Amino acid sequence: MINVAIDGPVGAGKSSVARECARRIGFIYVDTGALYRSCALFCLRNGIDISPDNENAIAAALEERLELKLDRIDGEQHVYVNGEDVSDDIRTLKVSKAASDISALPSVRKYLLSLQRSIAAENNVIMDGRDIGTVILPNADLKIFITAKPEIRAKRRYDELVAKGQNVTLGEVLVEVNRRDYNDTHRKEAPLKQAEDAILIDTSELSFEETVSGLTELIMSR
Ligand code: DC
Repeated sequence: MINVAIDGPVGAGKSSVARECARRIGFIYVDTGALYRSCALFCLRNGIDISPDNENAIAAALEERLELKLDRIDGEQHVYVNGEDVSDDIRTLKVSKAASDISALPSVRKYLLSLQRSIAAENNVIMDGRDIGTVILPNADLKIFITAKPEIRAKRRYDELVAKGQNVTLGEVLVEVNRRDYNDTHRKEAPLKQAEDAILIDTSELSFEETVSGLTELIMSR
């Protein structure tokens, strides 16, 4: 199986670029952020406090009460929490914040590790996340780190949320982007960082098409 690992901060364009590349080359696109978001949603819905002090209870609840599944409908990833498709419900600012918090907990990362590895072992994948090249797939065939300036990433995220009808300001989204950048890069467990053997792509000045075709060429050249 061929495994491509894509990591980078929120709003760098990773997921849309990875999804389109995967479609062009016939790979499966795996958005691992959806897994952390689903764990967070599960806790929010069940009144489970997401704080480091409550890590043991969170880990037990995930192990015992959460069945998490990824599936594909018309090539699009869908994520299921105990059989319910939550693909849309996990895309709110509230869940984004909770996902960033829950992803700092080592036992949550451990809980999600084997699911991610087993998908990669069975499929040609482009897997997108924060620690794919560093922790989940250290032997990936190709590792990419995609980034862009924070203001540009916030604007992209803002446009996405507004398009979904959410009532947010650009200022709020920039604060949230900076907060998540800080959390994601400063956590002790599997912090967001570029793998030594990853290729850096800064999309600040690149169009979507330029990024996709550049990345597709890189993958095909391997
Ligand atoms: O990519 P995203 O915005 O959907 O990710 C949601 C949160 O999950 C993000 O704050 C960081 C975390 N995450 C992670 O720690 N590791 C991953 N592989 C993917 C996401």
